[in-house]
Amino acid sequence: MADQLGRPGRLCRNHCPDGCRDVFPGGELVARLAVLILGFGFLAGCVTGTPQEGCLGCHPVHYRARGNCVSCHRGNGATSRKNIAHYRFIPAALAGFTLPGSPQVALGKRLAERYGCRRCHRLAGLGNGLATNLDQLGREDPQRLLDAIKQPATAMPDFCFAGTDAAALVNTIMAAATERRGGANEVPVVVHFTPGKGVRENLFVRKCGGCHRALTAREGGLGTGDVAPNLAGLFSRFYPGEFRPAERWNAERLRRWLDNPRVVRPAARMQPVAVTPAEAVVLAELLQVPPSAGDAP
Ligand code: HEC
Ligand code: HEC
Ligand code: HEC
Ligand code: HEC
Repeated sequence: MADQLGRPGRLCRNHCPDGCRDVFPGGELVARLAVLILGFGFLAGCVTGTPQEGCLGCHPVHYRARGNCVSCHRGNGATSRKNIAHYRFIPAALAGFTLPGSPQVALGKRLAERYGCRRCHRLAGLGNGLATNLDQLGREDPQRLLDAIKQPATAMPDFCFAGTDAAALVNTIMAAATERRGGANEVPVVVHFTPGKGVRENLFVRKCGGCHRALTAREGGLGTGDVAPNLAGLFSRFYPGEFRPAERWNAERLRRWLDNPRVVRPAARMQPVAVTPAEAVVLAELLQVPPSAGDAP
């Protein structure tokens, strides 16, 4: 699978329970064509039309009843120069969240659920506090969030989201963050991203890290494996998968899984991993997330 930048062959499988299939393959091409066609239309308009100040010199009015251009698109309305007007503006694909009932926001919600963003992040008031609280990003440049999702930080899984899906997730984050504006004085979660001493001897790194990764509250990002799911927040209700249907993961079930995954799921690919009872306790502690305000049962 090639990503947005055409870099081929990045490992994207298994970060989510069911692989990472495109929800709308081809959607991006359609979006690009639309922008291209619109672009030519507007260029022609700009050349032939009477020069005016601001966005309206180049664009027709739309959604007037809902506000002015910069209330939804940001940018700079006090110039007739495109590059300045468009500086840090919100393009059409990321502006859906400004309208009620946006289909992009709905799609982003489904994706966030399926790929388990909340095993690490708080989103719309719910989720673990292992990484940035996404509800605090309402004033961010959505373009930057798009980049953060397409080219994720080390401790965030690379889901290889392409245009339409990545844009939908940004719309969902912006919608939630805009709705929750004002919660900004919430205490930020402390996460240890720089692995401390002892990580090399860390049990997870030694016994699981070749296949798995996990973002942990105590030791930050652990492991280097990309063939198995990221186990961050395994025991929380935000982990996107269960031990068995309607049975959430817990320490005891993890021990049974490690004893023999195939007893739990006949088709499991993971081999049994020998751990002593003491090691099982350490692993369970490591995968525990501190209770967060959003994590009601
Ligand atoms: C000098 C002309 C000019 C001005 C002024 C201008 N634009 Fe544009 N805009 C364009 C052109 C041309 C395009 C077509 C795509 C491109 O070339 O980026 C465009 C595209 C857009 C798009 C769609 C781009 C996308 O990728 O979704 C939005 C949204 C937009 N402009 C908003 C604004 C807003 C808001 C303002 C005022 C703050 C503004 N523009 C001012 C010329 C202008
Ligand atoms: C209530 C929010 C809102 C306001 C106000 C608004 N827009 Fe938009 N704009 C959007 C959304 C959402 C889209 C994405 C396409 C859609 O849903 O219609 C968009 C799309 C665009 C596009 C891409 C072409 C298109 O129609 O799809 C341009 C250009 C644009 N807006 C310019 C402007 C300008 C100029 C103004 C001010 C006159 C403005 N917008 C006011 C929300 C808004
Ligand atoms: C295994 C944990 C994990 C999962 C799962 C995860 N992320 Fe992240 N994410 C991170 C980390 C770590 C960062 C780096 C910034 C930080 O939080 O310190 C990050 C950063 C981000 C940022 C940039 C925040 C900023 O201000 O720079 C966005 C946006 C984001 N993630 C969205 C998502 C979305 C959407 C999903 C689900 C599709 C997701 N993340 C799933 C761990 C995760
Ligand atoms: C040699 C590779 C490998 C090692 C080492 C490994 N695993 Fe796994 N693990 C997998 C694979 C592959 C899966 C995906 C499910 C399957 O088909 O078995 C998996 C699945 C899991 C799951 C289920 C996740 C889910 O969402 O269903 C848990 C929990 C788990 N492993 C925990 C661990 C722990 C804890 C360790 C270390 C003590 C570990 N694994 C070591 C390969 C490995």
